[in-house]
Order: sequence, then C-alpha cells, then structure tokens
Amino acid sequence: MNLDDSRFQASESVEPTRICVIGAGYVGLTAAACLSELGHEVRCVEVDATRLAALARAEIPIYEPGLDELVTRHTSSGRLTFTDDMASAMDGVSVALLCVGTPPRSDGEPDLRQLGRAATAAAAAATSDVALVVKSTVPPGTCEALELFVGGHAPDGLRVRVVSNPEFLREGRAVWDFFHPDRVVVGADDSDLARVVAGLYPSSWPLVACSRRSAELVKYASNTFLAVKISFANEVAALCEALGAETDKVLGGVGLDARIGGAFLNPGPGFGGSCLPKDLSGFIAVAESAGRPSEVARAAQRANDTALITLAAKIESALGSLEGRTIAVLGLAFKAGTDDTRFSPAVALVRELEKRGAHVRAHDPIARVAEPGVHQVADPYEAAHGAEALVVATGWEQYRELDPLRLREAMSGHVIMDAVGVLAIEPLRDAGFDLYGIGRGLVTSFAPVLWRPLEWMLDAGQPSGVANP
Ligand SMILES: NC(=O)c1ccc[n+]([C@@H]2O[C@H](COP(=O)([O-])OP(=O)(O)OC[C@H]3O[C@@H](n4cnc5c(N)ncnc54)[C@H](O)[C@@H]3O)[C@@H](O)[C@H]2O)c1
Repeated sequence: MNLDDSRFQASESVEPTRICVIGAGYVGLTAAACLSELGHEVRCVEVDATRLAALARAEIPIYEPGLDELVTRHTSSGRLTFTDDMASAMDGVSVALLCVGTPPRSDGEPDLRQLGRAATAAAAAATSDVALVVKSTVPPGTCEALELFVGGHAPDGLRVRVVSNPEFLREGRAVWDFFHPDRVVVGADDSDLARVVAGLYPSSWPLVACSRRSAELVKYASNTFLAVKISFANEVAALCEALGAETDKVLGGVGLDARIGGAFLNPGPGFGGSCLPKDLSGFIAVAESAGRPSEVARAAQRANDTALITLAAKIESALGSLEGRTIAVLGLAFKAGTDDTRFSPAVALVRELEKRGAHVRAHDPIARVAEPGVHQVADPYEAAHGAEALVVATGWEQYRELDPLRLREAMSGHVIMDAVGVLAIEPLRDAGFDLYGIGRGLVTSFAPVLWRPLEWMLDAGQPSGVANP
C-alpha cells in the first residue's frame, strides 16, 4: 500500500496529545498508528509477548492494508512506541484508550475481564487525572460501572473518569475507515471531557456527542441492524430460489432504495467474525435484562444458524451423501480482505461438512487456521485436486480468476457451490460443472406457484356484485 494514497493518510491535523493505547489488536493497533499519523504521541501497551516481539521487529501481527507503512513511519518518527510496561506508558498521560478484546462467553454475553484488568492497571499507573476511553464494544452501562470499579485503584488524589468512544472500523479497511468515519461517537457525563476526547480527532469529522450508555448502545444497535440485514438477505435469497426469481436483481433492486441501501444485502453463508455474532448476542442479552426482549434480533440469530446448516445440506444433497467424499473449501477468513478467522462461517462450514463425513481440503490466500483437523493447503488447485465438490466460502477476488478448465482437470467431480457469489456462472457451466449458489446457479427446489394468480383470475371472472360461493 502506498502512503501517498490519500485514503491512508491524515488530511487534517489536531492538537497533539500524549495518548496511551491499551491493546494492539485490530482496533488498538489501527488506532495507535492512525492517531500518530494525526500528530499525537502514542504509547501502545500490549500484554501478548509474541505480538509485542513482532512489533519490535517492525512486523505487523495482523493483515490490514496500509497499516504496516503507518506503523513503520511513526515508530521511525518516534511518535509511536510499543511496550508491555503500563507504568512507563501511563506516565504523564491524561487520555488512555482501552482497545482490549470483549469475546463472547458461552452464554452469549461478553466477557469483560480483559477490560476490567486493563482499566485497573491503567488507573493504578496514572500519574495525573486521566480519562479512560473505552473503544472496545461493551453493553450499555459498562462505562459507568467501570468508573466506579477503577476509581478505588487510582493513586490517592487522582481522578479517573471513563468515556465511551466505540469503534466502527471494518477489518480489511480499518485504516481507510479510521480516516473516513461515518461518525465519531463520544459518550461522556461531562461536556468538557467530551470535548477533550472529541478533540483527538479532526473537528470536520461527524460527531455524535451523547451519554455513555447512548454511545454504547449506538455500537450494539448498529451491529445488530447489520446482522438483521444479512439474515434478511439470506431469507430473500431462499425465497428467490423457491419462486424462481433472480436474487441479484431482487436484492439489488431493494438496495437501490435510499432508505435501505445496498450494503450487507448479499446472500452468503451467514455472518461471522469477532463482532457481529458477539454484539448481536450481547444486544439480545441486554434487551432481555432490560425487560425489552428483541424478537427481531433473536430471529436474525436463528436465521444465521439456519443459513449455514442449509448450505451444508445443499452440498450434501448435490453429492447424494458426504460420507467419505473429498471437498475443497476455498476461503477460511470470515470475509474477504482479512486474516481473521474468529467465528468464521467458512471454518464453521468446514466443521459441519466434516461432521457429515466429508474430508475437507481448504485454502485461504491470507488466513491461517491453527486448529487441529483443518487441512489447509497453499494453492486453490491443490485444494481442488481429486475433490468431488468445491465450495467457495469467502469472497476473495482472486477466486474470480480461477480457470474453469484447470479446475475441471484437477477435480474428480463436477459440483461447485459458490456460497458467496463471486464466480461467473457461464464459463463454469461450459466447463461441465454443476454450479450451485445461494439464490443463484443451479436451483433444485423451484416449484411453480401459479395457483395464487389463477385463483385471483377465477374470482375476477365472476359478474360484479355476485358473492363468492
Ligand atoms: N475487530 C474489529 O473489526 C472490531 C471493530 C469494532 C470494534 N471492535 C471491538 O474492539 C475490541 C477489540 O477488538 P480487536 O478485534 O482489536 O481484539 P483483538 O483480540 O484483536 O485485540 C485485543 C488486544 O488486546 C490485548 N490485551 C488484552 N488485555 C490487555 C491488557 N491488560 N493490556 C494490554 N493489552 C491487552 C490482547 O493481547 C490483544 O492483542 C473488542 O471489544 C471488539 O468487539 C472490534
């Protein structure tokens, strides 16, 4: 990525501030590098020794376009440093960003222990009054509780306040998103403090200043809405299959409505990643505990589970049975453009196919799955070698370029399931493949539904004023 590309550069500057960023994951590392680019002095604290050692060697532990150049530029300029020592990082700092993980517990609620530990350590290391700014995604009420909790850990005479400033970046476009936010949301109980946190960003960026629980809910509600959109798109695609309608035209037509918008209306194996499933279940839990259960959110969650099972069942029915069959799965990342496989539908699909008896050989251009049992190879044609079916599970651009004739030669079967809609249908059909998809390709369940119009026509043929029998 070229840093001369303005998409990856700060176009405006801000009043430089010394900031501590806690956690060097997708959110923390992006925030640390981009805040340095805006002109701030950033000290980034990371507890993971492997991650820290990689950063010390100027290696970026995650795949994120544009990030490596920013990190290199600002570690060289001295505006960005990495450490595991909270005391030195917090020395003289009045703003600390908490960017630690909030993974889901088995009951669906977020596990906030990393946040509690990081906030406590930061409060204890404070050398002046400090604002702890929560960028991690947390349920409404967390910032208020955190402020009460960490207050007792601060050195005598120092005040620790907690502000909500949720992060909205998309993995794979994190740097671009940082510099082009749809909105910066700052939730604080004091307008002076809100101004300090908002002042970390250029004043031209759209700002929503609100209460802490409002800010926390903006993030939860946004991700829940996106999840609902994806689940709805999958249900419309299933209906298109049943009715023989063209899914791309239907969802494309729906998305052109400015009130709806086309983003997140693409059918696929369902949503995954470290955010949508977790934030949806967090939203459901919060709504329930507030006595306002969300039927819409619950339905989106059920529909998402169904999407993956329906996909596996379609592959099974295309092959007759999955017992002992060899299947190539292309894509393991939860979406194209990232190396993140946390809660990836592609990985879940591999597991589901194996559960049904298949042997899976998988490929991903960037992502690596460390779990045992996932057989990953370095080349898509190697994955296809001898396979009876091939499934595209992540929409990497490079899968569009696959050569149908080479695939046909490599594979022993002729079934392709394009779960993400990246392949061109005709060339694969010409090469002798049966191409299945979600709402496109070979459809087996189409049943004519003419009875409805016919009944209406019969009724319309009655003389007016004659009651129906
Ligand atoms: N990944 C995304 O796309 C995204 C987008 C918006 C919001 N979020 C939210 O942001 C938060 C972070 O997400 P992420 O994907 O960056 O997580 P991550 O797991 O990639 O990174 C978290 C980092 O924090 C470090 N850490 C944990 N405890 C620490 C401590 N006490 N001190 C220093 N470092 C510590 C971990 O070692 C890890 O490197 C989550 O709440 C997530 O829901 C994520």
